[in-house]
Amino acid sequence: MREHGESDSQAWWDSLANRLDGFQGTYQSSVICDSGEDEFVRMIREKLAQFPVALDIGCADGRFTHAVASEAESMTGVDFSPVMIEKAKQTTTNDNCSFMVADAKRLPFPDHNFDLIISRRGPVSAPVFLEEAIRVTKPGGQLVEITIGEKDACEFKEIFQRGQGYGAEQIRSMALKKRLEDIPSIRMVALHEYCCTAVYPSIEDVALLLSSTPIIEDFEIEQDYPYLKQIEQRCTSSQGIERTMHRIIWAVERI
Ligand SMILES: C[S@@+](CC[C@H](N)C(=O)[O-])C[C@H]1O[C@@H](n2cnc3c(N)ncnc32)[C@H](O)[C@@H]1O
Repeated sequence: MREHGESDSQAWWDSLANRLDGFQGTYQSSVICDSGEDEFVRMIREKLAQFPVALDIGCADGRFTHAVASEAESMTGVDFSPVMIEKAKQTTTNDNCSFMVADAKRLPFPDHNFDLIISRRGPVSAPVFLEEAIRVTKPGGQLVEITIGEKDACEFKEIFQRGQGYGAEQIRSMALKKRLEDIPSIRMVALHEYCCTAVYPSIEDVALLLSSTPIIEDFEIEQDYPYLKQIEQRCTSSQGIERTMHRIIWAVERI
């Protein structure tokens, strides 16, 4: 199953990092109910106390890696975008944090090197990456990821008739659960799904969101203006412009 698209490529992320000076959106938004993002941070901090030598796969400009690194003995961030890694190195303040360019398909580490593998919306869930992430985890160590579910921004993708994972023949969350359960060298520790609503005050904020994330990977504001108008008409409530957020958090133990 092809779960992503253009954002599988290093060039796509380099271009985004150059345009945004890292991985940062400047749009305004608020989230109604629990998106799972805070729970993920809490889980990572708690696990780092027990599993202190950690690897963050798909760390982008290292913002999240830095935010949790103080809990770790050592934290390595990898990303296949040299532009993202350059930003991460420029902003490193934690002595225990290091960053390197590496493709998650072929990690430059020996077997059983880390206590904990973390990934916040990185590439770890797809089969080829999962196998490699498991390889570098110590037996008894854990892998924890927060990833995007198939319902994420479904209203927008329906209007665009395209976008990340749009039209995939399998339900991503079910395929992921089966994939994790079928691997004999790991044991499921946690699997949680979160569905909530994100609200944007204006259509300009939605345009900024789409320009700074892979939701609609080939989004171009001028060409896609008619779709933005449809979003404004169809997704506006009394609170603002609404979209579904769908996140999956999973944690497994390496046997
Ligand atoms: C959605 S961003 C997440 C960034 C970061 N974890 C955060 O939470 O801010 C996904 C990141 O994964 C990286 N990535 C995608 N495929 C990759 C691969 N095959 N190997 C290494 N990094 C990859 C991208 O370059 C991008 O920086």
